[in-house]
Amino acid sequence: MVELAKTFIEKFGPGAEPKTYFSPGRINLIGEHTDYNGGHVFPAAITLGTSGVARPREDTLVRVYSLNFPDLDVIEFDVNETANRPELNWANYVLGMLVSLRKQGFQTPNGFELAIEGNIPNGSGLSSSASLEMLVGVVVRDFYNLSLSTLEMVLAGKATENNFIGVNSGIMDQFAIAFGQVDQGIFLDTNTLEYSMVPVVLTDYRIVIMNTKKRRELADSKYNERRSECEEALRRLQTQLDIQALGDLSTEVFEQHTDLIGDDTLIKRARHAVTENERTILAKEALTSGKLETFGQLLNASHASLKEDYEVTGIELDTLAETAQQQEGVIGARMTGAGFGGCGIAIVETDKVAAFKQAVYDNYLTVVGYEPEFYEATIGSGARGL
Ligand code: GLA
Repeated sequence: MVELAKTFIEKFGPGAEPKTYFSPGRINLIGEHTDYNGGHVFPAAITLGTSGVARPREDTLVRVYSLNFPDLDVIEFDVNETANRPELNWANYVLGMLVSLRKQGFQTPNGFELAIEGNIPNGSGLSSSASLEMLVGVVVRDFYNLSLSTLEMVLAGKATENNFIGVNSGIMDQFAIAFGQVDQGIFLDTNTLEYSMVPVVLTDYRIVIMNTKKRRELADSKYNERRSECEEALRRLQTQLDIQALGDLSTEVFEQHTDLIGDDTLIKRARHAVTENERTILAKEALTSGKLETFGQLLNASHASLKEDYEVTGIELDTLAETAQQQEGVIGARMTGAGFGGCGIAIVETDKVAAFKQAVYDNYLTVVGYEPEFYEATIGSGARGL
């Protein structure tokens, strides 16, 4: 933060004292690709995230700088602009939030200066973009004294992705990042938006994040295609079933009606959404009652379903998760986030973490040809002023 505050003055000059903010990234324990299918998710905010130093301006200019993209230098736009511009690069997320908030009726009359620095690797599936969106949310709520609820801020972030960036994502990432609390997972029903905070008590185990280092941008991944496939499967099921979302179905009822879908690929996509929702509910129960082994097995089953039925893993994530699952002291491992590259998580016995990392590293290097990266995940609190 000291470095960032210095950079802020270098880039924007002296003046009124700026304020500091932090917005986390997230992992998802389980409940993948269920949030746009009316199912459950079980994410948590982490202590990696985006730091920001900001100060309001008297005029309508917004000037932003990222220590992660120094070559782009200060990016500037007018607070009243309405459209995504490629030249704005990462600042499109900042503009997108302002546009989305205005559409929700929250006025943003004047501009601001913002310097940021993130330690979530971009494109790693730990939601660096939602982290930035929620950072902007807390900054502008503060600067314009907006009576913006946390849920409204979350919805503005989702609208930014859906309408401004072009990713048809669900609500999980922004929800986790805005509502996160230390050592708590968020068990969220994405259909009703009811949620409960669940203590993540792992006793002698740690959550290790494994980064494939394979970058992907969701805008050009098959994310939107998967979403459309699920919508089509739902439409076909609705010809005879009275359901609003795939999340309304039990696996049993689903399996009795697959003939309504009549297409193997669509059946597999929908099967993942249905079974993953059930696994998520069971995993939350297992964790709550201290049945860590059951919890771990559900994580492994989630990965298998994302690999076989949803087909969003690929050699990199499969190598990490499956190698991890075979190591001593590991109770479960899976990809986390959208897939197509990005990160996985493993629940590893504390004493075995070093040996675990070495073994997974070695095998990944042999199979994939480049190095993975590991971070120990600590569950932290949501986006906030410091
Ligand atoms: C991305 C999206 C989320 C969710 C996950 C998959 O992170 O932003 O809304 O769909 O993928 O579970």
